[in-house]
Amino acid sequence: MKLVFLGPPGAGKGTQASMVCQRFAIPHISTGDMLRAAIANGTETGMKAKVFMDRGQLVPDEVLIEMVRERLNEKECEKGFLLDGFPRTVDQAEALEGIAAPDVVVDVDVADEKLLDRLTGRRVCEKCGESFHVAKIGDAKVCSHCGGTLIQRDDDKPATIRNRLDVYHRQTAPLIDYYRGKGALRTVDGDQTPEKVFEAILVVLGG
Ligand code: AP5
Ligand code: MG
Repeated sequence: MKLVFLGPPGAGKGTQASMVCQRFAIPHISTGDMLRAAIANGTETGMKAKVFMDRGQLVPDEVLIEMVRERLNEKECEKGFLLDGFPRTVDQAEALEGIAAPDVVVDVDVADEKLLDRLTGRRVCEKCGESFHVAKIGDAKVCSHCGGTLIQRDDDKPATIRNRLDVYHRQTAPLIDYYRGKGALRTVDGDQTPEKVFEAILVVLGG
C-alpha cells in the first residue's frame, strides 16, 4: 500500500495519517515532521529549511526529493508507506513516479476559511508530532499519547498561515488534476469530525 495524502495546511493530513498508519501498520512519512526534526537537531538541511518554513514557503525541491528518496529506500518502507506533505509540486510528483509511484492519493478537502482557526488553535507534541486543538484540550501542556510537551508551531501564526495557503493554491493544488489524470485521486470531505473523515478514508481505501 503506497499512499499519498494531499490537502491544504490544516486539512487534517497528520491527524488522519497517524490513524491510517496504525490501522495498516505502515510508516507515516511526514516531510514537515522530518524537516522540523532536522531543525531541532541543528543539521545543515534543517538550518537551510528553516528560512523557507518560517516564511511559509516551500523548501527547494532537490532537498525534499533526496530526503524522501533516502527514506523510501529504507527496508521499513518495502511493505508500503503513507507520505504526508509530499509531493507538493509537480516536479516532486514526477520524481516520486521514478522512486515509488503511489497507488492511491487521498485529497483531504477543506475550505480555506475553516483552516485559519484549525491552525491558530493547533498544539503539537514536540516528541511524537501528534496534533491537538485548544478547543478540545484547553491549555493542556502534556501530550495524552506519549507524555511529551505540547507546543505551538513557529509557522502557525496568522500571517505565515496566509502565505502557506497561498503557496498551497499556487504550487500544490495542481497535483489534484495531476493525480486525477493518473486515475489515482480519491477526494474525501475533510470538513467533518476526525472520526467521520477516517471512515471516509477507509471507504476510499477499500477497507
Ligand atoms: P507540513 O508540516 O506538512 O505542514 P502543512 O502541509 O502546512 O500541513 P499541516 O501539518 O499544517 O496540517 P495537517 O493537514 O497535517 O493538519 P493537522 O492534522 O495537524 O509542512 C510545513 C512546512 O514544511 C511547509 O510550509 C514547507 O515549508 C515545508 N515542507 C514540508 N513538506 C514539503 C515539501 N514536500 N516540499 C517543500 N517544502 C515542504 O490538523 C490541523 C489542526 O486541525 C489540529 O489542531 C487538529 O487537531 C485539527 N483537526 C484535524 N482534523 C480535524 C477535523 N476533522 N475537524 C476539526 N479539526 C481538525
Ligand atoms: Mg501535518
